[in-house]
Amino acid sequence: MHAVSQYQEFLSEYLQSQLEVKEPRNLYEPIHYILGLGGKRIRPVLTLMSAEIFGVSYRKALSAALAVEVFHNFSLVHDDIMDDAPLRRGSVTVHEKWDTNTAILSGDAMLILAYQYFENYKPAIFRKLAKLFSRTALQVCEGQQMDVDFEVRQDVTILEYLKMIEYKTAVLVAAAMKMGAIVAKSPKKNGNLIYDFGLNLGLAFQLQDDYLDAFGDPKTFGKQVGGDIIENKKTYLYLKAMEFAGEADKQKLADLFSTQLENNSSKITQAKAIFVNSGAATATQKAIEEYTFKAFETLEKMSIGDKEKQILKSFGENLMGRKV
Ligand code: IPE
Ligand code: IPE
Ligand code: MG
Ligand code: MG
Ligand code: MG
Repeated sequence: MHAVSQYQEFLSEYLQSQLEVKEPRNLYEPIHYILGLGGKRIRPVLTLMSAEIFGVSYRKALSAALAVEVFHNFSLVHDDIMDDAPLRRGSVTVHEKWDTNTAILSGDAMLILAYQYFENYKPAIFRKLAKLFSRTALQVCEGQQMDVDFEVRQDVTILEYLKMIEYKTAVLVAAAMKMGAIVAKSPKKNGNLIYDFGLNLGLAFQLQDDYLDAFGDPKTFGKQVGGDIIENKKTYLYLKAMEFAGEADKQKLADLFSTQLENNSSKITQAKAIFVNSGAATATQKAIEEYTFKAFETLEKMSIGDKEKQILKSFGENLMGRKV
């Protein structure tokens, strides 16, 4: 096994060796731009870690890991159009730096590139990876559509929200880990358990993404703080506030989230105050812990060494402490 920073390094080197800027430049430059902005790269790191946990060298998993990361970046480029986001990883978003049409097509090309990396595997493994990937990618689309549909709905339930974040975020984290097991030709049972671990970790991850979107530090967060509030996103913070707040605050929050307002900064301040005062912020932090611990419970069912379990546990614990 290696340290997380080493896995990130391996992935970066592999990425460098794979990508070339070709003509037409307006198709390939945005791809380089977004991938060059880096990010945490948690998904490909999990693929590489998972492969080594199940007994093969990370090298065997590099193509699958890169496929996952390129797909993730595709989803971010399109997500930023859909969310009207100005900032990504501390830099201007692709659709603002170029334009929306460029961002759509570069995103499409990244989705195709992602599939191409699976061609580096022999047929039996290729088939398993591609099948898992296709199912996952379609679920991500479903989750993203739900997320957008919820913007104009006032009756979203926690259960619907959980399905939405499972699809838009958690399934990719889960699949990233299962790919490591597939590449390692590990028994199906292991693949399914690591998928479960990734799914719960992914749910915790998106809950925290919601939390940081409102309460992150603008200096370090890298995205527009309050973006979800501006876009009337039905986040866990919002839904819990609507459950816990008194009538007056509930009405105020509903009004704030019913239109696109002129004064976003006042909307953000007011919404955040209700998130805090209602106890929704604390409830979100509790839910992050609960899903992380649920992931750890799955670990106990797995027949891997204690050292390996500890590595996955530390990874989950570090994610809970993240500020970005
Ligand atoms: C952002 O993902 C989108 C979500 C699914 C929450 P990350 O927080 O992993 O973004 P990067 O890749 O590190 O920038
Ligand atoms: C995005 O969720 C999930 C996907 C990109 C599939 P968000 O819209 O919350 O992600 P960020 O906050 O913009 O990174
Ligand atoms: Mg977004
Ligand atoms: Mg979004
Ligand atoms: Mg977000």
